[in-house]
Amino acid sequence: MAIAVNGTEYPLPDDPRVSLLDLLRERVGLTGTKLGCNQGACGACTVVIDGQRVLSCLTLAMQADGRSVTTIEGLGEEGALHPLQQAFITHDGLQCGYCTPGQICSAIAMMEELRRGDPSYVTADLAAGPDGTLREEIRERMSGNLCRCGAHNGIVEAIEGQLVGGAA
Ligand code: FES
Ligand code: FES
Repeated sequence: MAIAVNGTEYPLPDDPRVSLLDLLRERVGLTGTKLGCNQGACGACTVVIDGQRVLSCLTLAMQADGRSVTTIEGLGEEGALHPLQQAFITHDGLQCGYCTPGQICSAIAMMEELRRGDPSYVTADLAAGPDGTLREEIRERMSGNLCRCGAHNGIVEAIEGQLVGGAA
């Protein structure tokens, strides 16, 4: 019974009620993942499990048993930001930064969903795949990540630049 967080294995808690968010922040000590609403409404707690974005406040730690979790601390390398992290800075995609780890983790998995051709709410023809403008698609797909500072325009521009530029 263990989960891998950013490549390091950690034991699961004895208490099956512990959320993945609480495990990450309070037991593993990775506080980059933020606690916002704690009820699935804001996206601040988003992490990536085996390539899929999940809300860690609504996920029990034991649901991640044997799986690989990536948090904001697992992106980039020592002394070198992940390209999307740099893009958020370049495009002013943040102010206070509280929502930013969740925005970036969500966007990384979302870009893969888009590249795979997964349809979204703004996709008119489900069989044909994404057919809205790229900005419409990004806005819709990132609508679960709220930013109380109103940095959404910069966030969308940062993600768009990665998709158009072909970066990770
Ligand atoms: S803290 Fe998880 S969605 Fe808000
Ligand atoms: S940058 Fe402050 S909540 Fe998004």
